[in-house]
Amino acid sequence: MNLVYKGKTKDVYALENGNYLLKFKDEVTGENGVFDPGANTVGLTIEGMGKSGLRLTKFFFEKLKDLDIPTHYINSSIEDATMTVLPAKMFGKGVEVICRYRAVGSFLRRYGLYAKEGQVLDAYVEVTLKDDLRNDPLITNEALEMLGIMTKKEYDVLVELTKRIGNIVKDELAKKGLELYDIKFEFGRVGDDNHIALIDEISGGNMRAYKDGEYIEPLKLEELMMKN
Ligand SMILES: Nc1ncnc2c1ncn2[C@@H]1O[C@H](COP(=O)(O)OP(=O)(O)OP(=O)(O)O)[C@@H](O)[C@H]1O
Ligand SMILES: [Mg+2]
Repeated sequence: MNLVYKGKTKDVYALENGNYLLKFKDEVTGENGVFDPGANTVGLTIEGMGKSGLRLTKFFFEKLKDLDIPTHYINSSIEDATMTVLPAKMFGKGVEVICRYRAVGSFLRRYGLYAKEGQVLDAYVEVTLKDDLRNDPLITNEALEMLGIMTKKEYDVLVELTKRIGNIVKDELAKKGLELYDIKFEFGRVGDDNHIALIDEISGGNMRAYKDGEYIEPLKLEELMMKN
């Protein structure tokens, strides 16, 4: 097993058969000891966080598999906090795709002159570059094509998949009385045909979920989602 990348919340290993193994850690992104899913620094360690994130990730990726939506998922071991996945090729150095259902976070900071806090948004999709140095800048489809990061055709597939997956997550949360405000995904090119697939994870750390107007922390979210 070869360590290929040491991430903030996961480590990535290459397996002998060419697949990747993601190890979910207990580190959480945030600043000054305060959890913030959008932060680019590791702020604190929470016991059991890795396994909790993996449990939710497993739940959603298995759901997507049943629906024939392309992902990197192969299998997982909650005990070891590991997930086996297909290796993906990145768009440039990686992009993040956000799907928004309510105006909060950076959307509100950017468009506060027009947007009201908590205003309903209709699965509005935004793409950002993974670039910590430049605070993950927002990018348009024209710039993505111009800079050789992805084609217009790939962009269209990305947006379509994002809305579909976002809506699935939103519906699953709604079944438990939770409301999804926004969610962040990662995609990559997978397989010999380079088809676009959802990669990385789907956990509380990648979304904002609310219950009766109150923000639900990742560990609590997983607990609420997993109980019958
Ligand atoms: N199937 C895959 N193939 C290749 N790389 C992957 C795959 N799934 C996830 N990754 C990458 O593995 C890394 C996981 O590490 P981690 O989640 O800690 O992210 P990070 O890049 O440090 O920070 P961030 O939370 O900002 O993404 C990410 O860089 C992610 O893009
Ligand atoms: Mg990550």
